[in-house]
Amino acid sequence: MTAWSVYGGALSNQGSMKAVVATAYGPPEQYTVAEVPVPRPGPGQIQVRIAAAAINPADIVLPSGRFGDAVHLDFPHIPGNDFAGTVTEIGAGVTAYRIGDEVFGLAIPRVLRAMAGKRPSVSTGSLAEYAVVEADTPLVAHRPAGLPVEDAAALATAGLTARAVVQTANIQPGERVLVVGATGGVGTALIPLLAAAKTHVIATATDADADTLRHLGAAEIIEYREPGYPAGIDVAINAVLPGDGLSGLAAALRPAGRLLTITFPAPTLESIGRDDVDLHVVLDMDAELGGMREVGEAAMRGELRATIGRRYRLEQGPQACADFANLHTTGKLLITI
Ligand SMILES: NC(=O)c1ccc[n+]([C@@H]2O[C@H](COP(=O)([O-])OP(=O)(O)OC[C@H]3O[C@@H](n4cnc5c(N)ncnc54)[C@H](OP(=O)(O)O)[C@@H]3O)[C@@H](O)[C@H]2O)c1
Repeated sequence: MTAWSVYGGALSNQGSMKAVVATAYGPPEQYTVAEVPVPRPGPGQIQVRIAAAAINPADIVLPSGRFGDAVHLDFPHIPGNDFAGTVTEIGAGVTAYRIGDEVFGLAIPRVLRAMAGKRPSVSTGSLAEYAVVEADTPLVAHRPAGLPVEDAAALATAGLTARAVVQTANIQPGERVLVVGATGGVGTALIPLLAAAKTHVIATATDADADTLRHLGAAEIIEYREPGYPAGIDVAINAVLPGDGLSGLAAALRPAGRLLTITFPAPTLESIGRDDVDLHVVLDMDAELGGMREVGEAAMRGELRATIGRRYRLEQGPQACADFANLHTTGKLLITI
């Protein structure tokens, strides 16, 4: 019979590993690095020795307890969705991977399994030396040989989301596209994709980030601390503002323009104050618009590019999470292991 550890993986006879852990609800300043059992793969799962992991807002928001009764975490909880690494053990029934394969992907915390749709990849947490993930989902794929591990980890959530947004927007060459939140993980992945689609990209940034965003393909930069969006925008993409605070952004759209947003709460035509706008909330956890294989292919074509703002070692993981919460970020914060 399989015994299950408190953090969701089978108890290990492979010894222990280092992991970033939250031991109770609270801010990332309370995370520590602890020795925990190495998780073992169950049926349909693979064990991955993590080489690089990237931090996302969920790694801070879930352990914060902000979701209250909607999300119940078991402690110790290991944060971390995005990963790249090497397959070290195969669960029963897995045929797509072998020990030694290089893989990368997006594995959502097990606690969100019920919210994850039809084919989630759930994880024991990637801010650790090892993680177990579901194998048979489009959210995990072989890492292309030409894609560095750090870039693969940095592009998992950000690349998948950026691709989903651009496909949903049905972008046309020459369109003026405004990206709000362009300095973030998703934003920096969006800009090269939009530039590759031959659009005119207008990006929000501080002065310090302007050159980075121009290098990624932005044609114009607007200072985000003094928002004054240009008028006549064809497509506006929100990658940071709360979904119920988008009326100012919507006002910048031309008649019948498109507004795409990836944050919550989901806006309505009423809340954005425009009834002529094509409004989309993009969330593609089932990877219906393309999964990790397509992210890898787009990266190899140069359409997706990883922007890594800061690098940390696993021992610095709690600091990395605190920096993500408290400091200005440009691109992804990455933990190498
Ligand atoms: N729907 C989906 O599938 C999906 C997928 C991934 C992420 N998300 C959500 O999308 C959001 C962005 O994720 P992310 O990983 O890109 O986050 P992130 O890396 O924290 O990026 C946010 C960026 O926006 C900047 N910013 C803050 N306030 C701004 C403002 N008023 N105007 C313009 N820029 C501003 C931030 O700068 P500072 O650091 O200076 O604040 C930061 O550079 C999060 O809410 C996340 O939960 C949704």
